[in-house]
Amino acid sequence: MATRRASRPELLDEALAHGGPIVVFDQVNLSFDEKAILSDVSFTLQTGHTKIFLGASGAGKSTILRLILGLLKPDSGVIFVNGERVDNMTEERLMGVRADLGMVFQEGALFDSLSVRENVGYKLFEELHWPLDKANTRVAEVLGFIGLGEFIDRMPSELSGGQRRRVAIARAMAAKPRILLYDEPTTGLDPITSITVDEEIIKLRDLENVSSVLVTHQLRDAFYVAEHTAIRHGQNLAFQKAKEHKASEAEFIMLKEGRIAFEGNAQELRAIAEADPYIEAFLS
Ligand SMILES: Nc1ncnc2c1ncn2[C@@H]1O[C@H](COP(=O)(O)OP(=O)(O)OP(=O)(O)O)[C@@H](O)[C@H]1O
Ligand SMILES: [Mg+2]
Repeated sequence: MATRRASRPELLDEALAHGGPIVVFDQVNLSFDEKAILSDVSFTLQTGHTKIFLGASGAGKSTILRLILGLLKPDSGVIFVNGERVDNMTEERLMGVRADLGMVFQEGALFDSLSVRENVGYKLFEELHWPLDKANTRVAEVLGFIGLGEFIDRMPSELSGGQRRRVAIARAMAAKPRILLYDEPTTGLDPITSITVDEEIIKLRDLENVSSVLVTHQLRDAFYVAEHTAIRHGQNLAFQKAKEHKASEAEFIMLKEGRIAFEGNAQELRAIAEADPYIEAFLS
């Protein structure tokens, strides 16, 4: 990782401080079998901020996450992740970029045959080959962070749905990525359990300065993540309504058939819903 960082111009490191651009899409187009999946998609995620993608099934939300990970290449347009251009990057160099990305997959799939410890430490043990002591310490630390320290030796089948999603978040954050991508992290969970997952997303953003891309169908969760903040009082942690400038650091993008139909903060989304039948239908 050190060599990759050293090869980057110093200016980029400055740009990546809080508020600098960390994910940039510039006029990205992608088609499958001549069908346009994404058309002219441009946006910037600032460091420490949250980009929330909404849109009907098939609108192209997961495709955007796959492009960020470099699992897909656009037909045209430019994509920067963490200061590096990834749209034309070789697979080998992409491995370096992916070290700074954590992904929580749709359904938060865990490896059923591995314990919670092995799931959370998977990347550290198997891919990054961290020394065992260091990896075990980090696994315990992230499980503590999400409040599931005592479940370290359980199997995924012995956890509730909400606990499994939180373990998936712990797994995604284990290698200390600067960017976390969440694909429908609360789908299928009841509202109260969903909030426990939302609060992990908020904690990572507000306490660890992780930049987040959240794809969701659940507007309730989208607004909760956008409009709450995590505050530490000594040993205790509280979630409270975010002040307006803080809430504005969460930007919504609504995709409609691969195009950006709306971009703005939570307040603007609520306001525009009254005027735009597509957004209103989605919000109601
Ligand atoms: N590898 C592929 N080959 C062909 N078409 C694809 C491929 N991947 C995705 N698509 C198509 O691209 C469109 C967008 O897919 P995507 O998975 O991004 O949708 P989504 O917005 O995440 O939907 P959902 O909310 O259902 O998860 C869909 O029409 C899908 O069928
Ligand atoms: Mg999807």
